[in-house]
Amino acid sequence: MIFDSYLSFSRKNISLLFRNLIPDDISEEYISGLRRNARFLINRSDDISRQWQEDYINNVNRSNHDSIFGLFADDVLIGSVGIQQISHTITEKCALDGAFLGCFVFHPQFLKRGFGITAVWAGCYYVHKIANVNLVQCGVDIQNKKSVKMLKSCGFTIKSETAEKIYMHCTAEDLMSPLDISNIRIGYY
Ligand SMILES: CC(C)(COP(=O)(O)OP(=O)(O)OC[C@H]1O[C@@H](n2cnc3c(N)ncnc32)[C@H](O)[C@@H]1OP(=O)(O)O)[C@@H](O)C(=O)NCCC(=O)NCCS
Repeated sequence: MIFDSYLSFSRKNISLLFRNLIPDDISEEYISGLRRNARFLINRSDDISRQWQEDYINNVNRSNHDSIFGLFADDVLIGSVGIQQISHTITEKCALDGAFLGCFVFHPQFLKRGFGITAVWAGCYYVHKIANVNLVQCGVDIQNKKSVKMLKSCGFTIKSETAEKIYMHCTAEDLMSPLDISNIRIGYY
């Protein structure tokens, strides 16, 4: 599913853009990052190649309920956010709505600087404000303590746990914005 809008904002002196990914956005850093982090990614293949990722993005963009976004810092792709199982279309509002979010920040220059939190915030903000979906859910590998901490600092709470996964969720009211975000704007193509 491709949306007709994007989110732009700033963090200190960095311009950030959050928009649907297209195959032409795939960079070498993205592919290497996918290979390094395969363990914690839900949608992966044994052979992580540019062709596989292009096919994946094309399939997601053609689907009715799944979407994938890129986070660009000063026009460089630094991460991606998958938003899946969006439970209704953007023209319908309903009470029992929801979506699943997966976040990935790979660019070496932007790790451990709060851009994971920024990507989760942007994904949730987009889902809440533009897709009119109230509840965002995440399923995190039980070993992935860093992500649990990151999600908690965005306003997510733990809903349930299994031997393999921690399930967390965040409503529009609970979403916390990183303090250093400014100039938030929704633009349309
Ligand atoms: C999980 C992942 C997105 C985190 O990326 P990240 O950019 O390192 O994460 P954060 O935004 O949480 O970075 C916070 C770190 O930056 C530091 N930081 C620096 N400036 C900051 C700021 N202005 N705001 C917030 N944190 C800041 C924090 O102290 C924190 O460090 P710590 O983890 O040592 O406490 C990334 O490691 C990743 O893509 N992993 C693989 C895929 C994955 O696990 N996805 C999650 C599934 S939902």
